[in-house]
Amino acid sequence: MAIQFKEVSFEYSPNSPFSFQALKNINLEIEEGKITAIVGATGSGKSTLVQHLNALLIPSSGQVIVQDKVIVANKKNTGLKALRENVGLVFQFPEAQLFEETILKDVMFGPLNFKKTHDEAKAAAIASLQLVGIEPELFNQSPLELSGGQKRRVAIAGILSMNPDILVCDEPTAGLDPQGSKQIMKVFSDYNQKLNKTVILVTHDLQHVLDYADNVVVMDKGEVLYSDTKINFFTQEQMMDELEFVLPKVILTRNSLIKKGFKLDSSIITMDKLIEGILKEVKA
Ligand SMILES: Nc1ncnc2c1ncn2[C@@H]1O[C@H](COP(=O)(O)OP(=O)(O)OP(=O)(O)O)[C@@H](O)[C@H]1O
Ligand SMILES: [Mg+2]
Repeated sequence: MAIQFKEVSFEYSPNSPFSFQALKNINLEIEEGKITAIVGATGSGKSTLVQHLNALLIPSSGQVIVQDKVIVANKKNTGLKALRENVGLVFQFPEAQLFEETILKDVMFGPLNFKKTHDEAKAAAIASLQLVGIEPELFNQSPLELSGGQKRRVAIAGILSMNPDILVCDEPTAGLDPQGSKQIMKVFSDYNQKLNKTVILVTHDLQHVLDYADNVVVMDKGEVLYSDTKINFFTQEQMMDELEFVLPKVILTRNSLIKKGFKLDSSIITMDKLIEGILKEVKA
């Protein structure tokens, strides 16, 4: 079943002089088994939205439905531990939370905490370290001796070792160089494609959206402004302009050629297809 937000509003510090309504009447469905990107300006409510997925935040009104769990406002919500095992949340700079003496122990911590046996936890940790591309020679090293990109991958392995059905990542590539970013994005893409898991990705990088996402949700001032497939998203020129999004080069080039009279399909989102389209026009 899809993830659903039904008329969800969320207010920080209610009934205080600092109260702030960060989400306003959110109605949204997120498809299972897909990669959904959540984009929008700073302060638009992206992090607030995704923290509802494992009940770190509870709606002030409305309900969030995740798998068979309904999280509602103003009621004691039970069964949250099972939900938290099924929804892995990777925060920005997750490597700040690495703390064990060895990489392997660090990644085993989650499964052990969720009552797996030592052997089960070890097997899960080894599998997820393999998924993120950390070599076995490193398993017994201190996580603190790794490079920034490696640390980030170990921290993500720590979440993957719980084998969550839904993986939520809040700006997972922030602060990484292009190569480190690409490695991390590949981990999410593999987790989605090889294991058929749902991945939800908060990002500022529309090139990552273009390269990896299936669907896109646009947040604006606490509201969902847009939610559709990636291909349709990249045809919304006016919205992109208004929100001052930095568009990937292939989309900029496509749009600019269309404006200059080239007959190109607005569903083109790859360089190969764009070149094909240009060649057809030039030869015609
Ligand atoms: N603990 C808090 N108390 C009060 N207001 C908060 C709190 N956390 C966030 N806010 C406010 O809620 C709004 C949405 O914040 P949120 O962190 O969800 O935005 P965001 O889209 O994730 O932004 P960014 O891209 O900068 O991470 C912002 O205006 C923010 O100032
Ligand atoms: Mg945020």
